[in-house]
Amino acid sequence: MLGYVVAVSSQPPAPVRLSTVRVPGKINLALAVGPRRADGFHDLSTLFQAVSLYDDLQATARTDNQITLVMAGEGSEHLACDDTNLAVRAAQLLRERHGRDSLGVDLRVDKCVPMAGGMAGGSADAAGTLLICNEVWGLGLGLEELSDAAAQLGSDVPFLLLGGNALGTGRGERLRPMPEPGRLEWVFAIAQHGLSTPQVYRQFDVMADRGDIVPSAELAVGVLDELCSGEPERVAAGLRNDLQPAALELYPELAGTLAADTDSRVLASLVCGSGPTCAFLCADAESADRLAARLVGLPEVRDTRRAHGPVPGPKVGPAR
Ligand code: C5P
Repeated sequence: MLGYVVAVSSQPPAPVRLSTVRVPGKINLALAVGPRRADGFHDLSTLFQAVSLYDDLQATARTDNQITLVMAGEGSEHLACDDTNLAVRAAQLLRERHGRDSLGVDLRVDKCVPMAGGMAGGSADAAGTLLICNEVWGLGLGLEELSDAAAQLGSDVPFLLLGGNALGTGRGERLRPMPEPGRLEWVFAIAQHGLSTPQVYRQFDVMADRGDIVPSAELAVGVLDELCSGEPERVAAGLRNDLQPAALELYPELAGTLAADTDSRVLASLVCGSGPTCAFLCADAESADRLAARLVGLPEVRDTRRAHGPVPGPKVGPAR
């Protein structure tokens, strides 16, 4: 005789708590970098802009204390899903800070923001993880508490909770939201290989020691008005990235991408953050579409993305 036991419970099954979030990547419209500080970081004045390239995250609460991660999409095959991954570290940090070591979660990340590209893809995943773990674990934390945890995870993570345009100071974690009129049309050229952010900052220090650059976290008077005007020509005139010379020393082929044969509707090009992704600001969507198609043929361009900015910060989907 086949024997089996059917467990009958008077309790309704526990609801599966699931949450989703879509987090944008960023570009720095201005990145003014001061000298290396005693703690190894650099003071910055940076104008962040969130752009319409997104990583999509999903979290399901577990009944045990395991934290698991699955990644798919852009560059994910090169990413470890263990606790060296910023998303896993974000989940661990959040439960540690709230003394809730019994909490667990299954995370899934579908990536579109380029990896090691200077667009804060890893930071976007960390920001998204904080938001959805807060939701599925029912922690009820506000933006201020989440921003505090975000700053512990990385200098760009607090901005990715916010989105839009924001001025970042300190090491980039102190934020002031800025006006966001108009819509800028961007093309991003993804390079054949990545650059490490610490390495680019080290190269910046080498160049400063050589006297090639004079570090300064000061932004010129009026430049924020230009960059937040929403008018492409005025924004193009104000763009600045102090890490660009260091990124170019480490990856000289980027010069060819930045100088790509463009037309008069392509207003400016610059390296995104610590690179090596190159951004092109265009006067309108049509010229941006044309440029994206042309850039794909360049030797140092692995792929291109069209996007616009600024876009709002992440929105968490309902837990159920
Ligand atoms: O803050 P985050 O972990 O993203 O920074 C990565 C590295 O970039 C740091 O370890 C540091 O070398 C460099 N960095 C810096 N100054 C900043 C931000 C980052 O030197 N303001």
